[in-house]
Amino acid sequence: MNKRPDQPNRPLSAPGRVKEVTSTANPIVKDIRALVQKKHRDETGLFLAEGLKLVIDALDAGWEIKTLVVARAALDNALLEKTASRTVALGADLIEANNKVLEAITRRDNPQNAVGVFRKQTVPIAELAPRRDEVLVVLDRVRDPGNLGTVLRTADAVGATGVVLVGDTVDPFSLEAVRATMGSIFSVRIARTSEAQFLEWRKGAQAPLIGTHMAGTVDYREPDYGSKGTVLVMGNEQAGLTDALAEACDTLVRIPQAGRADSLNLAVATGVMLFEARRGTLTL
Ligand code: SAM
Ligand code: CO
Repeated sequence: MNKRPDQPNRPLSAPGRVKEVTSTANPIVKDIRALVQKKHRDETGLFLAEGLKLVIDALDAGWEIKTLVVARAALDNALLEKTASRTVALGADLIEANNKVLEAITRRDNPQNAVGVFRKQTVPIAELAPRRDEVLVVLDRVRDPGNLGTVLRTADAVGATGVVLVGDTVDPFSLEAVRATMGSIFSVRIARTSEAQFLEWRKGAQAPLIGTHMAGTVDYREPDYGSKGTVLVMGNEQAGLTDALAEACDTLVRIPQAGRADSLNLAVATGVMLFEARRGTLTL
């Protein structure tokens, strides 16, 4: 249910190159640093994943690595060393860097020992239609990278079919969003669509669209989420759902609240909804 299309790490014919880099002025470092900006991720189709755990998650899930930057001082770590050899065998370049270079790339003090440069991957929405007992998450114009990363992590945790980003959303491949996914970016299928494309896709969808709305009149525990699967539609942090999306939903549900908060945080509301939708399927 949660698998990406097969994309084994491509065994390129030639092993990658190994370089030692000590200057932040090195052009390779400049190119990698530039991936912090969306413009450069869009131009190159690449993004950054920080930390050895994330890099290993990505390689295990078959994501294509272009370059691995490792802390030269940490190469006595057996797992790091093994991952470095694995990367070179896959044909990607290995950069052995000092701390200054790693700090410059990640714009962080105490940077991680490894930063991977990977090729972005998304899927067409047509591949994500949920079936019985499945749930697909749809986010309308999500603004906050931390929220997006947290939703991706939660979608992974419940075994969601995928996450669809509708309209003008933040980039799931930003450093901040990737950090917040804790590695789930590599196991959740992501599609991007315009609102018009989404509404077109919706016409052929077999599963009901269940939207969450502050004006919803149905308790979120009422719908049948399982028998035809569910398309769960979540609204923008400030504005909620657009009218067009709200009207496209079969049901608008609300999570009852006590206290004085106007609403729940988007990622928290998505978590509550996902565990309700998957209640019958998840067991210890
Ligand atoms: N001011 C916005 C409004 O009135 O719609 C609040 C948006 S809320 C911060 C962001 C999203 O989280 C909402 O669009 C909805 O999808 C979901 N959400 C938050 N609290 C909810 C609740 N109590 N019931 C249903 N959905 C909720
Ligand atoms: Co530039």
